[in-house]
Amino acid sequence: MTASPPAPLSPEALRPALLPFGEGTMLPSQAYTSAEVLAWERRHFFAGTWTCLGRRDALAPLGSTQVATTVGDIGVLLSVAGAGPVEAFANTCRHRGHELLGAGETSTKQAVVCPYHAWSYDLSGRLITAPGFREVASFDPETHGLVPLPVQEWHGWVFVNAMGTAPAFAEHVGALEDLVAPYEPETLVLGATHQYVVAANWKVVTENYHECYHCPLIHPELCQVSPPTSGSNFDLPGMWVGGSMDLRDEAETMSLDGRSPGRPLLGVDPRVVLYLGLFPNLLLSLHPDYVMAHRMTPLAPDRTQVECAWYFPPVADGASIDPSYAVEFWDTTNRQDWGACESVQRGLSSPHFRPGPLAPNEDAVHQFVTMVARGYEGRG
Ligand code: FES
Repeated sequence: MTASPPAPLSPEALRPALLPFGEGTMLPSQAYTSAEVLAWERRHFFAGTWTCLGRRDALAPLGSTQVATTVGDIGVLLSVAGAGPVEAFANTCRHRGHELLGAGETSTKQAVVCPYHAWSYDLSGRLITAPGFREVASFDPETHGLVPLPVQEWHGWVFVNAMGTAPAFAEHVGALEDLVAPYEPETLVLGATHQYVVAANWKVVTENYHECYHCPLIHPELCQVSPPTSGSNFDLPGMWVGGSMDLRDEAETMSLDGRSPGRPLLGVDPRVVLYLGLFPNLLLSLHPDYVMAHRMTPLAPDRTQVECAWYFPPVADGASIDPSYAVEFWDTTNRQDWGACESVQRGLSSPHFRPGPLAPNEDAVHQFVTMVARGYEGRG
């Protein structure tokens, strides 16, 4: 994260969250409830860092060459020409700023024409035509292409830095690359996708993901296949937080009966599940036989869209196996989590809420909270 103006939160309110583990608390309530804070986060956490937009194949439906989306608070035009690299541009015409495509729109054409005065750009963002400017001697089309934005494909997912000011993606990911690479997510096939809207702030969802202190009370199915006190957390370079949990001796994977009808992934620990959160919006769960990804988009201070997708090793014809064993397990667990997150959101919206201390096994939550609080202070 680069240095940025501080968030609209007082230094006094943030101080308890920045204390060392064992003394630190969760963030102040305004961090989860304020529209002003969310507006700041959209600009500096989502547009200002590397936000995951999803998988390349899902982003660009068959035949699409351009896709308009919003990253944080900035309009982005993705260009996906054939099998070539994804390119990203500001969705802002170089004439007077009209959007080239509306957010969510796609195109299958080889050029995009601005709907306002018909300036047109090719898939590389180069200006092709600007009606009426041929006779203007001082006008140079070469200097009026779309503004390019940093984009990165990583193990099948596409990330954009919409402000164009973030450190290099390799620095952002840091040592997470070494943990994710053996699972080769880019080779896996989508088995299922669920869309959820959770009535809670995106950080409440993240914090819940990073601790299993709550598991004995609300996740009986999970505790049957994975001891809630097992595993440990990582403290390695990069803008991510995460840890591992073990499978019980009799369990092959995270499923309702502990059995896996799937194919094991080669070269990964068959007794461990990794839970990794890449700031700001991608949560990865890496199992011995499948990968699950939660991608979050904040809709409001108290509403978050969560896309949950499951990926499996391909079978002979390139399709996925029946994903229901993993989907049923995690859909049950997800809904238990969403219920808890929504209750937390209601509780911390109370005028009587005070940021509470973090338990000895909430160290990953402390890492995340510290990362957020440092970002709020503009320290990156
Ligand atoms: Fe795009 Fe005028 S604003 S052509």
